[in-house]
Parts: sequence; C-alpha cells; structure tokens
Amino acid sequence: MTTIGIHDLALATAHHVVDLSELATDRGVDPGKYLTGLGQTSMSFPAPDEDIVTMGATAARTLLHRTGTDQVRWLLFATESGVDQSKSAAVYAHRLLDLPSHVRAVEFKQACYAGTAALQAALGIVARNPHDQVLVITSDVARYALNSSGEPTQGAGAVAMLVSANPGLLEIEPISGVATRDVDDFWRPNDASTAVVDGRLSVAAYIDSLMLAWDDYAARGGKPVDQIDRFVYHQPFTRMAVKAHLALARHTGMPGDTAAMGAGLEYNRLLGNSYTASLYAGLAALLDSDITLAGQRIGLFSYGSGSVGEFFTGVVQPGYDRTWHHQATADVLAARSPLSVSAYEKLHAVALPSDTDADTPHVTAGPYRFAGIENQARRYESTV
Ligand code: CAA
Repeated sequence: MTTIGIHDLALATAHHVVDLSELATDRGVDPGKYLTGLGQTSMSFPAPDEDIVTMGATAARTLLHRTGTDQVRWLLFATESGVDQSKSAAVYAHRLLDLPSHVRAVEFKQACYAGTAALQAALGIVARNPHDQVLVITSDVARYALNSSGEPTQGAGAVAMLVSANPGLLEIEPISGVATRDVDDFWRPNDASTAVVDGRLSVAAYIDSLMLAWDDYAARGGKPVDQIDRFVYHQPFTRMAVKAHLALARHTGMPGDTAAMGAGLEYNRLLGNSYTASLYAGLAALLDSDITLAGQRIGLFSYGSGSVGEFFTGVVQPGYDRTWHHQATADVLAARSPLSVSAYEKLHAVALPSDTDADTPHVTAGPYRFAGIENQARRYESTV
C-alpha cells in the first residue's frame, strides 16, 4: 500500500538572536517569568536583509540538496507574515531556488495553522498523483510591539518539508480532527507591522481548539490516546505546549505528565515563535533527540489564531535514523549572532516603505538576501 507523508525536512532561522534574560533585565522583569513562566530562553531576530522569503528559501535549499527536485511539481508557501498582498512568497522562493517553471507556486494563509493546511493539501496532491512531490515551506517572523506582553514571545524561523509517497520520515495518517471558530484572539491588520493580540483570550482559545479538534479526531475514528506515543504542539512559547498537553491529559485520561512530549520543546525555546513553522520545528526537535522512534505514532496539534486547530497523527518510518540529519538544526541555532537589547530595539524600528527605493545593508550570512526595494518591487539576491 502506498503511504504518504513527510519525506524529509530542514530548518532555517534568522541571523540574530536576542537573549531573554538580558531583555527581562532591561524591561525590569524577573527573568524567571520569561525563562520558566513562558519557557523561552532566546528569540531569533532577522537582519535587515532577511525576511520570510530568505529564511524559507534557505530551509528549502538545505532540503533540496538532499532530495533533489526532479519530482517536485508544487511549492506551497505558508506564512502569516506575508510580504505582498498579491504576489506569493512562493514565487520569490521559486526563483531563488532555481526551480523549473513547471513547479506551481502559491501562498497559504490562516495564521500559524497555514503550514498544516499546506501539508494537508500536499497530501491530497500526492494521493492524486503519487509520482509528484510537493515542497511545503513554512516561514514566519513573529513581531509584537516593544514593551508589550507579547514581546518575549517573538521569534523567526522556517521549516521546509518534502511531501511524497513512501516517505522516509513520517507517514501522515488519514484521520484528523478539525476545529474552526471565528475568534478575535490575534490578528494583524493590513496596515500594521506588529500583531494585535488579546493574550489571555488567545491562550484560552488555543486550549478550547485542542479539545474540539481532539473530540472531532476521536469521533472520526482516530486512534485511542494510549496508542499515541509522542505529542508535538504548536509552540507560541513552550509553556503553552505544556499547558496544552496537560489539558489534553485531563480531557482524555492519559498520564498527567509531560514524558510523552520528549525533547520536542528544545528548539522553540531557543527560536521563539515561528508561527507556521513552530509545530514542525517541534517535530524536528523530537526526531533529533531520539533515534529510537521508528514505528512510533506522533500526535501533532496545529493552532492558528482566528482560529483553526487540527489534531492529526504520523508514524515515524523504519530506517529514518540512518538518513535523518540529527545535528543540522542545532548547528543552525548555534550559528546565530547575538544582538544587544539596544541593537534589537533599533532593528525592531526599521521599516522600509514600499513606495521608496532603498537598499538594505549586507548582514546575513545566509545564501539569500532581501536586497531592498526598487520601483515598489522587492528585490532578492542569491549570495551563493
Ligand atoms: N518566575 C516564574 N514564573 C513566572 C514569574 C517568575 N518570576 N513571573 C510570572 N511567571 C509566570 C506566570 O505565573 C505565568 O504562568 P502561568 O501561565 O502558568 O500562570 C507565566 O509566567 C506568564 O505570566 P503572565 O501570564 O503574567 O504573562 P503575560 O500576561 O505578561 O503574557 C501572554 C503572557 C499573554 C501569553 C503574552 O506573552 C502574549 O500575549 N503572547 C502572544 C500571544 C500568544 O503567544 N498566545 C498563545 C496562544 S495563541 C497562538 O498560539 C497563536 C500564536 O502563535 C500567536
């Protein structure tokens, strides 16, 4: 029987990193609130010549170097920090990656859930034509106002996934549970560069969404909770995933501890929120930390404010431990360049109006850069 799922994935992040102990001290907050209360130790922050396109293309470049592009027919780019109202980030990435013109390119949006929507669409595409492969890119810059309660939950990152038949990494099982509800917990108006958020409501809405999605999953014939070995959650901050898991444990009767989460929080603790990429960065952290997961079923919960939630499962494929690149993400995170709080605040304030020509300074060490704006169009260049 043909299985369908994630064949391989790769993570990229931004050039800079901000230490949250330093930010807490500067803000007059006990660092314990950020480090323990939110479960975050640092956050990635983009250089002026980086954005969702450069991060997403970088993650995809790493992935495609391993897998090749011969069977890729689609590029689905999921983001909630889109750079244009009309042209998809996928088309910019398509050129940077030098993909053939027969690869379709389109953008998906529904807050942090969009990556899972793209993944589900990719599974359907491959089911229709098992010879085709779909490149899914999830990439976001999470940006809140300075001195706001959301500030320590900023971050930036991208995860690229290749969806194929007979995947090497994770077969995605067909049953999933969905919860869509109109909630004003978090959004970003068209003329705003930072998100508007009702923090308390967003936390409650996330938990409600998980319960509804789980109930739908169970009603549709999903696996009993004791047949799910590990759990990975969307992680706007890692304590949110812990709260979610404990709430699901109370709801389903599974053990009320976090053992089944493994080390799935370790990358997001360092990355900060990467919105659409966050769940899949959690998956990468889990797979990197344990080479004995073959045959194990992983439950994944994706949440996008506004809101859509989905609970689904995947089975880790035999032999993944021989091909999986365990150290790759740790190396990407370790390569970031520290930013002082005052330098971070200056960068946070940078905004390039779309109607003024401008060049960005060369800062990023990555293979692609956002070079600036010319005739109202964004310019990207390859440095490799
Ligand atoms: N030591 C240890 N813990 C401490 C502490 C200390 N010194 N001081 C406070 N804490 C704890 C608090 O007790 C609290 O823990 P509990 O939640 O377990 O009670 C935790 O630190 C956070 O403290 P507050 O609730 O007082 O924090 P806050 O109100 O200032 O901010 C927030 C929290 C509302 C989530 C805010 O960070 C925010 O608005 N974030 C952005 C929105 C968000 O991420 N929402 C998540 C759900 S929505 C979603 O998932 C989509 C998405 O990606 C945005």
